[in-house]
Amino acid sequence: MDLDNYLLKNSKEDQISSIVKSLANAAIKISNIIRSLKPYESISKSDTKLNADGDIQKPLDIISDEIILNFLKKSPAAGYASEEQEGYIDLKNNNNFIVFADPLDGSSNIDVNVSIGTIFSIMSKNKLPLEKAFIQNGNHQKSSGFFVYGPQTTLFITVGVGTSLFALNEIQGKFILIKDNITIPETTTEFAINAAYRRFWDSTTLKYITECQNGKSGSRKKNFGMRWVGSLVADASRIFNRGGIFLYPSDMREKYKNGRLRLTYEANPIAFLVEQANGAATNGHKNILDLEVNELHQRSPLIFGSKEEVLEYKKS
Ligand code: AHG
Ligand code: MN
Ligand code: MN
Repeated sequence: MDLDNYLLKNSKEDQISSIVKSLANAAIKISNIIRSLKPYESISKSDTKLNADGDIQKPLDIISDEIILNFLKKSPAAGYASEEQEGYIDLKNNNNFIVFADPLDGSSNIDVNVSIGTIFSIMSKNKLPLEKAFIQNGNHQKSSGFFVYGPQTTLFITVGVGTSLFALNEIQGKFILIKDNITIPETTTEFAINAAYRRFWDSTTLKYITECQNGKSGSRKKNFGMRWVGSLVADASRIFNRGGIFLYPSDMREKYKNGRLRLTYEANPIAFLVEQANGAATNGHKNILDLEVNELHQRSPLIFGSKEEVLEYKKS
């Protein structure tokens, strides 16, 4: 089944289907650009421009943002908010749905041929003015997903009826369904965290990770392995496929006391997909989808994946 037919079957709103198709076309274009670059041609150069959140913007971040915006302009989306834009963009129509995106996730992996991706979230405007619509909490999402530009170009998507995996057939230029109703295994022995920040962790994270590392001889009585790609989309793909727990907690660094990842276009869309796949996503205290949004680029701790481990983290 291709993405068009999947949406016809599962999406209750034509406007949402149409927005998803536009995002898929944007992703195909981004994927082609990434693949067509000459090996080792620097696509990041050392550009020192900063985005709204103070992170370095690379040319491919900006190109991806422009491509998405151009496709959305031809779609029924009423507004667009992105990591690469300070405020939301009013697409000047009276339609119902707004889009959030991280146009290119995994910036540090752009130049090294490691998977990167595009994350999106679609919400209903609920008749609110745009400035209010863009700060609704994650429970208002109608669809979310992410594309991965890796060995294959893939899409994990939910329209509220489970999480599904598609892969791009490059010859047909179509996303083909690979797996429906994805279930994240409830137990796991694999964790993902940037352990270089250990000295900045709070007592919960320190206790949880130390117990994982103690393995069979510790209180957990099982050995763990560790994987950290450094692209949220790639780490999430692995967890949807075989389980695991991902942690980007708050830590003592001044900039990251609320974690590093952004709530509206990173944590919320991933949390929606995770819950639809029988996993859990928390900031350590509350479900990600229940978190109040105060501003577009707000950061949040994000811990997600196999249910039992997320619970174990919360108990630590
Ligand atoms: P982005 O490239 O959109 O800024 O996101 C990068 C994120 C995420 O993909 C990854 O999990 C995390 O940053 C890695 O952070 P560290 O470099 O601190 O490990
Ligand atoms: Mn990102
Ligand atoms: Mn990004």
